[in-house]
Amino acid sequence: MKKCFSILKAVLLSAFVISSYSASAQTHAGDAKMNAFVSNLMSKMTLDEKIGQLNLVTAGGQSKTGSVVNEGVEGKIKSGAIGGIFGIYGTKYIGTAQDLAVKNSRLHIPLIFGLDVIHGHRTIFPIPLGMSASWDMGLIEKSARIAAEEATAEGINWVFSPMVDIARDARWGRISEGSGEDPWLGSQVAKAMVHGYQGSNMKNADAVMACVKHFALYGGAEAGREYNTVDMSLIKMYQDYLPPYKAAVDAGAGSFMSSFNTVNGVPATANQWLLTDLLRKQWGFKGFVVSDYTAVNELSSHGLGDLQQVSALALKAGLDMDMVGEGFLTTLKKSLKEGKVTQAEIDLACRRVLEAKYKLGLFDNPNKSINADREKRDELTDDNRKFARQIAEHSFVLLKNQGQTLPLKKSGTIALVGPLADNHLEMLGTWVIAGDPNKSVSVKEGIRNVAGDNVKVLYARGSNITDDSLLSSRSYFFGQKQPMDGRAPQVMIDEAVETAKKADVIVAVVGESANMSGESSSRSDINIPESQRDLLKALAKTGKPLVIVLFNGRPLTLTWEDKHASAILDAWAPGTEAGNAIADVLFGNYNPAGKITATFPRSVGQIPIYYNHKNTGRPFDGNGPAKFKSDYIDISNDPLYPFGYGLSYTTFNYSGVKLNKTSLKGNETLTASVTVTNTGKYAGEEVVQLYISDPVASISRSVKELKNYQKISLQPGEKKEVVFNITTNDLKFYDNQLKYDWEAGKFIVQIGTNSSDIHVASVQWDK
Ligand code: NOJ
Repeated sequence: MKKCFSILKAVLLSAFVISSYSASAQTHAGDAKMNAFVSNLMSKMTLDEKIGQLNLVTAGGQSKTGSVVNEGVEGKIKSGAIGGIFGIYGTKYIGTAQDLAVKNSRLHIPLIFGLDVIHGHRTIFPIPLGMSASWDMGLIEKSARIAAEEATAEGINWVFSPMVDIARDARWGRISEGSGEDPWLGSQVAKAMVHGYQGSNMKNADAVMACVKHFALYGGAEAGREYNTVDMSLIKMYQDYLPPYKAAVDAGAGSFMSSFNTVNGVPATANQWLLTDLLRKQWGFKGFVVSDYTAVNELSSHGLGDLQQVSALALKAGLDMDMVGEGFLTTLKKSLKEGKVTQAEIDLACRRVLEAKYKLGLFDNPNKSINADREKRDELTDDNRKFARQIAEHSFVLLKNQGQTLPLKKSGTIALVGPLADNHLEMLGTWVIAGDPNKSVSVKEGIRNVAGDNVKVLYARGSNITDDSLLSSRSYFFGQKQPMDGRAPQVMIDEAVETAKKADVIVAVVGESANMSGESSSRSDINIPESQRDLLKALAKTGKPLVIVLFNGRPLTLTWEDKHASAILDAWAPGTEAGNAIADVLFGNYNPAGKITATFPRSVGQIPIYYNHKNTGRPFDGNGPAKFKSDYIDISNDPLYPFGYGLSYTTFNYSGVKLNKTSLKGNETLTASVTVTNTGKYAGEEVVQLYISDPVASISRSVKELKNYQKISLQPGEKKEVVFNITTNDLKFYDNQLKYDWEAGKFIVQIGTNSSDIHVASVQWDK
């Protein structure tokens, strides 16, 4: 390999001595060297080789998320017709493919290797929606860092993450892959993930390039139906949906993935305004853009023309790499001849792909991450598992805890029931490519590990995840099937009820299977599947305390559960250390502090439902006559659990909001504070949230917007003053000319434990 590296260097690097660059702090000198290197290389490339760099292929397997898989990959690598491969991992496979490229292609240009590393690689962390509920950017960044370490140990240098799409519709299965509904919080997560993946220098052997997706607005799919049309106002786009992508650009993300949907009428993948004017010219993005899976070809179904035409449109719009569909590979040459694209457009895209490889240090060492020792050593280590347990615990949200049912005592008898209680397969959640479910800890195992000998655990499965054959077949793919218990539903329920009768408390582990959410998993009904609700209803009738441990990739409608269960712990899909983390929280080794980042509706009919909505001209606040007000006649407007909500085993008391001034001018800073006291028996953490509203403005503003938070830790009886500094940056918004500024007037500062339970103070802020 060393020899091959020196040949490559000799051919490509000619006059340049490659020293250790800091990609994170690219100086002009660094840029100049990169430009000269890439120009020199491109001067030797044929048109076919340039177009080849724009071709991203998949080897299939679990990365197959469309109906097409590439063929003839080996020959294409050798002829220089492929710029990158995704969907393979492991030094053996990646090493072989990289060897083919650097030894057998004419110019020895290394391939880039991508993978959907979404929430961990071998060690799996909670699904992103769960991680965001931790409100802990340090932990989130570390999860991306560990994922990068593990993925690079298997030759990966590019990850299709973070997914930063804002989502306000729980029917959409991919809400599980993002950070919920809030643009400000989503931006913090986007930054943390990019930093974690790319590390201090993308040339490091343990750094990957992030690919921010899906640009843009994918989460706004109409009716929550997968791949559906998106149509929204520019103000909404700028104010609520675009900020996390912009934050990722500012954090230095190396690449972006275009989304499947339309943006302002034009599909994102061929949207020049989006990919060039906004992303590059306004935001200053310097990396490359890859399409989503066959999204270039799908432009034809969007109605933009045949493959040649849509490929030309996509390239001209600013798309650099074509994932799987090979529209670029098979049509760009012809389009160039016919004057439908220019040489400069092909060159620019090729340059951007080569620059990415340069920034990753692949021209220095194409095999920088192909290291069999690291592969053995760095995967699923004890430390990584320990961290997985920690972040899972921090992601859990206590939705209900009547009469302090939790934490459980480490004595007595527990009836452990539910199809997810003794289950490894469903612990990891959606989008897990290299994670091994057999290495995950089930809840049953976790309880055994943590509870100690004084706890007797009686187990009964109680039901299948679902008895609905359509739902079952659609939520298992890649050849998997729901492992079914062949007994009749009532027989299983009866067994569970008998088990429950012998116990002091019931722990029911229920909810969605891993792939009931995620890509292509939209649901029109977001209840816990019926077979499990029947089980819960029968268990509730026993009168025993009923603790629900919930698995879910989205907010679910839990009105029945909220009324009848004694406690509900939302565990999302916790990852490799699921069972240990759940048991830690059930038995009080860790006091839960997560807060939901997507509103939980009472009914699917309330969707889209989100905290930062507009007031409307006829708001209904629940008081007075409801007729002719903005509401429903059959349900309240309120969600079941509001954004930012989550309980603790302890209780926190908030003082009123104290302001340092009540009238300000220009660029002064306002300080707002509250004193939070731990009034309960347990030490605990609390996410203290700051919202601001702007009741009078030139456009209709959201009723409130999250602007900051602090996560604090308090011993029983301890109190802390939490101080927020507020500047005019926190008051800015996009007006109807899309000018981003603040307007003088009254503002209401709101601080509290969630978006609904807040303390307020007003201030006058003049220019
Ligand atoms: C389609 C998905 O939309 C995208 O998120 C993913 O990265 C690609 N397939 C590649 O697997």
